[in-house]
Amino acid sequence: MDIRDLKVKILGIVATPIKNGNTQFIVNEALRMAEAEGPVETEVIHLEDYQIGYCTGCEGCLRKVHKVQQEVGCDIIPVPIKEYNCTIKDDMEVLHRKLLECDGLILGAPVYIATIPAQLKTFLDRCRTFVHDYRLRGKVAQALTVAFYRNAGEDTALAAMNITLLGLGFTIVGYGGSTVSTREGLGILVRGKRIAVTEDQLGMMLIRTVGSQVAQYALRLKAGTRALKEAGIELREKAMYAVPGSKK
Ligand SMILES: Cc1cc2nc3c(=O)[nH]c(=O)nc-3n(C[C@H](O)[C@H](O)[C@H](O)COP(=O)(O)O)c2cc1C
Repeated sequence: MDIRDLKVKILGIVATPIKNGNTQFIVNEALRMAEAEGPVETEVIHLEDYQIGYCTGCEGCLRKVHKVQQEVGCDIIPVPIKEYNCTIKDDMEVLHRKLLECDGLILGAPVYIATIPAQLKTFLDRCRTFVHDYRLRGKVAQALTVAFYRNAGEDTALAAMNITLLGLGFTIVGYGGSTVSTREGLGILVRGKRIAVTEDQLGMMLIRTVGSQVAQYALRLKAGTRALKEAGIELREKAMYAVPGSKK
């Protein structure tokens, strides 16, 4: 396939109960920069538009992964699971599909008590299958956040998102970007301005850089993977967990 036909899809997730707020603004801004990189298609989704129940810890996803690995061997990566792999039937089915279809992810959430909002944690817990089935390997990601105060949980919120994205199989291509939604991060509301991140010049620069980086690395990774395949070079990943009783 001609490399000039290459296209990547970047998914933006707005992970907050608030619609049309600063979080939504920074995710859109990052996606706008991603599109400017060339053959890049973007989609933005807001978790508030989806019904997502808590993970109940039933282990159904894990049992399914192990069952398939026992059939095909644990060195087959990603684990060939075609269907939605969660026992809870709700909107996560749509969201799993969107994650599987994208080449890159920009995950944006506000700082809530120095970490991520409960809504985002609920969503991430429901993605547990991907930790074990490796189906999100080969996709890139970065996180974005916004807080009231400067230095009041931005780093810990980004760290929480980064470690979880890594666990799910994404390749993190930067530490992420943070902004403040008050004047100079002092906690003083900017009068008449709901979207006040626009005043944070450094923060917005970081957000835009994240958008460009995610698109560029997604393009590089997809192009490189395709080139290696066309050259007959097959890089086979190793499983991280042995499955008792599996073929290999
Ligand atoms: C429950 C809750 C907890 C928050 N915790 C923090 C915090 O720890 N540090 C901080 O600087 N801002 C905190 N904030 C403020 C939000 O991060 C800030 O208002 C942000 O702009 C919200 O994003 P939005 O504009 O998209 O709604 C908190 C807000 C809420 C509702």
